[in-house]
Amino acid sequence: MFELQEIPLERSSGPLAKSVWEFIDEGLRRGKSIDCFDYVPSNYDVVYAALSALPRGRFCEWGSGMGIITGLAEMLGFDAHGLELDPGLVTASRRLLADFGLSATVQTGSYFDVHHAADVYFVYCWPGQVSRTEEHFLATAAEGARLLVYFGPDDFRCEIKTSIDSP
Ligand SMILES: C[S@@+](CC[C@H](N)C(=O)[O-])C[C@H]1O[C@@H](n2cnc3c(N)ncnc32)[C@H](O)[C@@H]1O
Repeated sequence: MFELQEIPLERSSGPLAKSVWEFIDEGLRRGKSIDCFDYVPSNYDVVYAALSALPRGRFCEWGSGMGIITGLAEMLGFDAHGLELDPGLVTASRRLLADFGLSATVQTGSYFDVHHAADVYFVYCWPGQVSRTEEHFLATAAEGARLLVYFGPDDFRCEIKTSIDSP
């Protein structure tokens, strides 16, 4: 049996490199021309600081939007992948990643249907979707995997899948 346990979310400090900001700013600029009601950018410096503090491994962004976090994860040394429902965002994010020389992949589909194994997952979804997303994570992720749940710079948490039988 497994459960979700909230663990402290560390954030590394220090300014982001100019090249990282250039990628973020270009992603934000291109994202403005995509008509997708569901796409709301997160605070990328905040997410970058949290990812920086995590052990590297496989990363999957659930609802990857413009692929900015997927790209940042690759820059930090993760093997990064995004899953996105909106085909326009999938196309635009693939182009953005390629234009910046990044090889992270983005797949079209719902993260409720498409499984991509990872050590760290990130999601920024509507509050009404959080329970379902957490249940899905619990059902599909490996023991020890982390789920970063973002709602804003001050509402950002890290959950880990742990065995209830663990001491
Ligand atoms: C609030 S935006 C966040 C985008 C991106 N993660 C970020 O932080 O910049 C949520 C994104 O998830 C996508 N989305 C919503 N439900 C999804 C699902 N079930 N599977 C894949 N993508 C989904 C939306 O199209 C949207 O791009």
